[in-house]
Amino acid sequence: MIGKGSLKVKGFLKDVGGASRVTKMRRELIQNASAQPKPGDPIRALADALHPGPQEFCVTQIREASPTSKTFRFEPVNGHVPVFQAGQYANFYLTIGQSVLTRPYTISSAPFEARLEKPYFEVTIRGNVPYLVPDYFFEHVHEGDTITASLPFGTFYYEPLRDAGKAIALAGGSGITPFVSMAKEITKGTLDLDLTILYGSVKHTDIVCGEELAAAAEACPRVKVVNIMSDDGDWEGEKGFVTTELIRKYASELCGEDGDVSYFFCGPLAMFRAVSKSMEELHVPARRFRHDVMAQPSNVRQIPGFPEELIGTTFQITVKRGIHEDVIPAKADEPVAMALERAGIPIDAHCRGGECGFCRSQLLSGDIFVSPIGDGRRAMDKEMGWFHACSAYPVSDLTVKIPIL
Ligand code: FES
Repeated sequence: MIGKGSLKVKGFLKDVGGASRVTKMRRELIQNASAQPKPGDPIRALADALHPGPQEFCVTQIREASPTSKTFRFEPVNGHVPVFQAGQYANFYLTIGQSVLTRPYTISSAPFEARLEKPYFEVTIRGNVPYLVPDYFFEHVHEGDTITASLPFGTFYYEPLRDAGKAIALAGGSGITPFVSMAKEITKGTLDLDLTILYGSVKHTDIVCGEELAAAAEACPRVKVVNIMSDDGDWEGEKGFVTTELIRKYASELCGEDGDVSYFFCGPLAMFRAVSKSMEELHVPARRFRHDVMAQPSNVRQIPGFPEELIGTTFQITVKRGIHEDVIPAKADEPVAMALERAGIPIDAHCRGGECGFCRSQLLSGDIFVSPIGDGRRAMDKEMGWFHACSAYPVSDLTVKIPIL
């Protein structure tokens, strides 16, 4: 009894025939296609405008954001700042000696400021932070200089389809910058969000962008800023750390006991650990807890599971890229990406936190330690020996294959 079944088979074969005709048609189209992109293709023009690649920007203003931090304003040389969301970051290309290093900074200005008659974007940087190129901006970047940057990157922004309409921002130190951008955008009326910012600092003089935050809170009731000082005897507001109790208090003030609220964290590793614990205690579902990509800490002892006995050891990495092969030294306590950059070998690093995947490379031999902080590798990548060079450390001599830039 195959009547019905045979009909199905017939239909199936018919479909296969159709698919093969399409394949033939596509093959012909590909054969006759030009190697050059079609001029005036609107889709390509839109894609180029949204993701234009590295651009030249002029530094038009440098101002103090706190006694230890500065805000740098960048205006595009070609008149166009790519569209970005409050919370995303820009990647800067810095030429130091023979090496071109990249360094990500969260944009602290608001998206609407990139659409003004004179468009710009800003980043706010804290001085004396020992990370990759400490104080480069403070020492080498001046008003009138031109610098190469690429933007936007990152997924740390408010998305109404994914996040609750009320949010608690948990910030420490210069981790306040994405929330400065969000607060300004809310004030402008172009970001539909109620935001309470719990901002932890040691002393009130450590508050970064304090005036801008206060102005946003003053201008718009949808923005609230709570400064919390851990060691400031004269401070009259909240004192101590950003604890579970404090988070509960302000979340309930924002949307009641059982209200739906999203939590956004950006700050140092120690604070991230404490805040993650608070999220567990408050039974916050994972989808309601968003955290910014954190660069790997310069002190590897802070990385859980790091083999401390290897600190001070230097290994060799054989680096293959296309027809090139180099052998370079690599310290066990520095990510592979940093060893490459020290040797003048370019690597496409953006987030430097293990999440974006731009620095994805292949391990051909040897052993690496992969930082569990922001390990964004896919399961299949792990199995097939792919790793992210920004968050992997050599624990033996290695042979790696990296993309050609
Ligand atoms: S730079 Fe983003 S994963 Fe390495």
